[in-house]
Amino acid sequence: MALNPTLQATPTMALSNTVLITGASSGIGATYAQRFAQRRHDLVLVARDAARLQALADTLRTAHGVKVDVLQADLTRPADIARVEARLRDDASISTLINNAGMAQTGGFAAQTADAIDRLITLNTSTPTRLAAAIAPRLAAAGTGAIVNIGSVVGMAPEFGMSVYGATKAFVLFLSQGLALELGPKGVYVQAVLPATTRTEIWERAGMDLSAMPEVMEVGELVDAALVGFDRREAVTIPPLHDDAHWSALDGARQALLGGLRQAHAAPRYQR
Ligand SMILES: NC(=O)c1ccc[n+]([C@@H]2O[C@H](COP(=O)([O-])OP(=O)(O)OC[C@H]3O[C@@H](n4cnc5c(N)ncnc54)[C@H](OP(=O)(O)O)[C@@H]3O)[C@@H](O)[C@H]2O)c1
Repeated sequence: MALNPTLQATPTMALSNTVLITGASSGIGATYAQRFAQRRHDLVLVARDAARLQALADTLRTAHGVKVDVLQADLTRPADIARVEARLRDDASISTLINNAGMAQTGGFAAQTADAIDRLITLNTSTPTRLAAAIAPRLAAAGTGAIVNIGSVVGMAPEFGMSVYGATKAFVLFLSQGLALELGPKGVYVQAVLPATTRTEIWERAGMDLSAMPEVMEVGELVDAALVGFDRREAVTIPPLHDDAHWSALDGARQALLGGLRQAHAAPRYQR
């Protein structure tokens, strides 16, 4: 059964529509690139490691006959972010943005430096928001297209002890839900994808030992599941969540809470 199917219109996208993927040099982003190339989409691949992007681009051009451009960018640097924004604004062939580039948190909150906090929050929240804002007006005007934001189940679980990373991913979920409400009626599909632990380089990059983690999803399985949600036009896709009644209950409780907010007076428990 589809998880929270949306009421948005399902646009029929031409097969040649270009997909821009951030963080495409490894892991989830590289796998999205492979899957979209297999679906005969042209691609723009974005990350810092140009050599890896070029190698992936060569492989995908040869294997699938698609056009693949490489855009080297450090998505924590203002000038580089601006270049990617300009491409999303100006290149009318791009109809899908996969906001995937991200990093995990190294160490607990007390160990965070100001620079590390800035980098993490910029890469995981400000940049994807700016990139979505760069493409949204064009997609809304065209009445088609998609924005996919990669969040994380950590964004719903302060218990996991990654407070800054989890906060950035809570932001991604909220932003996606808001954009789905704002842009959905204009024909733009917005999806939040919430993976749990997935076998990629992110953990090693953050100094964590993946082999110590109890359950790990393979990256191909994660992206294939996310694409099932994409094809169904789900607003929120949580591949590792087996019983989607839990999500429905959570979202239902949130809606009920909104109905219980009465703004004119404080609740009796706060009145002296
Ligand atoms: N793996 C998991 O368990 C898991 C779980 C939940 C959510 N996620 C999310 O999934 C997304 C993808 O992560 P992944 O697991 O595939 O990890 P990954 O293999 O480490 O991939 C991260 C990608 O982001 C790029 N990137 C990192 N810093 C960047 C920067 N400053 N500027 C531009 N690109 C940058 C990396 O490329 P370069 O180094 O070449 O720049 C790489 O392509 C992230 O948003 C992550 O939070 C992952």
